[in-house]
Amino acid sequence: MIKIGFTYDLRSAYLAMGYSELETAEFDRESTIDAIESTLNQLGYETDRIGHIKQLVERLQNGDRWDIVFNICEGMYGIAREAQVPALLEAYNIPCVFSSPLVMALTLDKGMTKRVIRDAGIATPEFFVVTKQDDINKVDLPFPLFVKPVAEGTGKGISEKSIVQNKTELASVCRDLLKAYKQPVLVETFLSGREFTVGITGTGEKATAVGCMEIVLKEHAEKGVYSYVNKEECEDLIEYVITTGDDKQKCEKLALEAYRILNCEDGGRVDIRYSHEGNPSFLEINPLPGLHPEHSDLPILCTLNGIAYPELMKMIMDSAIQKVRQKK
Ligand SMILES: Nc1ncnc2c1ncn2[C@@H]1O[C@H](COP(=O)(O)OP(=O)(O)O)[C@@H](O)[C@H]1O
Ligand SMILES: [Mg+2]
Repeated sequence: MIKIGFTYDLRSAYLAMGYSELETAEFDRESTIDAIESTLNQLGYETDRIGHIKQLVERLQNGDRWDIVFNICEGMYGIAREAQVPALLEAYNIPCVFSSPLVMALTLDKGMTKRVIRDAGIATPEFFVVTKQDDINKVDLPFPLFVKPVAEGTGKGISEKSIVQNKTELASVCRDLLKAYKQPVLVETFLSGREFTVGITGTGEKATAVGCMEIVLKEHAEKGVYSYVNKEECEDLIEYVITTGDDKQKCEKLALEAYRILNCEDGGRVDIRYSHEGNPSFLEINPLPGLHPEHSDLPILCTLNGIAYPELMKMIMDSAIQKVRQKK
């Protein structure tokens, strides 16, 4: 029987260590860990809970080994934080579910990712990376613009204020974000059209889209953006609508191109938004998609498209297991 090690950042474990709600916003709840583990068991895999990276270090030091590790650690420090567990496992020649350390580190940096995406000829909003206060007046793009931290997730640092209409607003939001997140700020053309997210499973030529859904903001939601607040209270503020026809075809094509160019493995999600004229653009890619069965976007969009949670997990594992076979 294939033995899967399971690494994750449990939110409550970090809260207990004294980290804040915001610092741990991307971390997982016990219910996500339970759902993943019991589904892997249902699929016939033996699982071994490891926990966060420091617990993994101890276990490796003790001589413990696994056929493959199912890793969902988001990491705490640095731009390569999502790459840390995959890189550590690589050093021990232990295969890991999801993308390589290179992909994990690159895609957390939305600016660097957009350079690769743009080079491949895939549509993405024009942008400028503001690294320090002095850079703010170098931004030479037409308003309205969208301003966000270059390397966060889960809507961190994103609110109605992210949409800026003039130089004064731009300067004020950039300054606040530089200070609060201690990292560069990505300034992009604001896309005012409809928003979609596409789920993908598999690797390379075998990657396929598992579905597309539209993010529709309800009346009481924060306006114009799928923000931190709208994400945290998605049950009340967001309506997720299945996408069909031409929109589905356009979005899935763009998402698959981006996924393949970036060499993502096993599964992920691509965020897309339409321009005012209705042309789709790449916003960002998530090679470590949230996997809470009811709260996370990938499982939600799969459910809407008739793919139950165990089926999604099976598609991810069927792709990942090739890495164990290749090694043997
Ligand atoms: N250039 C943009 N134009 C319009 N909306 C944007 C733009 N960039 C981000 N957004 C909005 O902000 C949300 C979060 O941005 P995203 O880059 O996906 O960050 P996160 O990693 O937090 O999900 C998007 O889902 C979208 O609603
Ligand atoms: Mg996103």
